[in-house]
Amino acid sequence: MITQREFVTFSIDLNLFFLRIMKEHTLFLELALTPKDRALGTEASNMRAGFDRLLSETIEVANDNVSRETLESRQAVTQYTLEAERLTSFFTGVPINTTLTEREMRLSPDGRGFEASTVQRVESINMRAYQQTSALADFKAKLLNDVLSCKTFTNTYPLLIDHILREARFYMQRLYMLMQGETIHGREDLIDREAFWNRIMAEHSKFIAGLLDPTEEALIDKARTFGREFDALTAEAIQAQTQTREIGAVTAESLRQTRQLRDFKAAGTEGIIDCKIRSIIVPLLADHVLREANHYITVLETPRA
Ligand SMILES: [Fe+2]
Repeated sequence: MITQREFVTFSIDLNLFFLRIMKEHTLFLELALTPKDRALGTEASNMRAGFDRLLSETIEVANDNVSRETLESRQAVTQYTLEAERLTSFFTGVPINTTLTEREMRLSPDGRGFEASTVQRVESINMRAYQQTSALADFKAKLLNDVLSCKTFTNTYPLLIDHILREARFYMQRLYMLMQGETIHGREDLIDREAFWNRIMAEHSKFIAGLLDPTEEALIDKARTFGREFDALTAEAIQAQTQTREIGAVTAESLRQTRQLRDFKAAGTEGIIDCKIRSIIVPLLADHVLREANHYITVLETPRA
């Protein structure tokens, strides 16, 4: 069992990262739909409003309760998030609540003690985060099914829909563990999380390769190389799950490669924001995958028990 203090901090750290990821998924899906599926777009947009409200509440409780690692790792917001949101809104005409980002940039980490009421507030946020993410997962699963059976067309890869569906389910699983009073930073399931995130990193690399303009050959090559390396690391992590093999080597190599991919994504985000890279990647998608690398680096650096 984790302490109340840990419950509060672990929950806030998790929600600050994933609520933003989920709200952005609703935006990416909305942008990927065609005019025919406007109703689905509205549904996605309504879900986003729900995640915005929940994120706003989380930010309120996060001050003095969020961990220093979460803030310093830039997994909740990066140095590019605000500009990426402004540009994405400018390009697409979809309004994005940048106040949340500004508030997150001003958060301060675990200071004074927390009040008993904080635990209840966090429990309530976790519960609603679980419900809203479950609704979003259903939406993604249905859309993926319709795309795979050619009932619906999207301007995005089916693998991307599958990818963000897995992320939603992963988030629900972590929330469930917290609601059961279990730690989400244990060493026992670190290798499972490595298998999960290495695959996510491999897929990001492949999405980037496929969404860059075909003239960006050097960047495409680099992205494809990352894709192959993370495929290999995913296979190694899966192997280590079933064998009583030393996982330290897989963890060390995953960390080394993820730091390199993070640098590649950061340079890519900057290049896209500065209009120096040709692609069909909206700035906020670039920043989104950068944040996921930042998050994964923290997972690899700080298993706590
Ligand atoms: Fe992702």
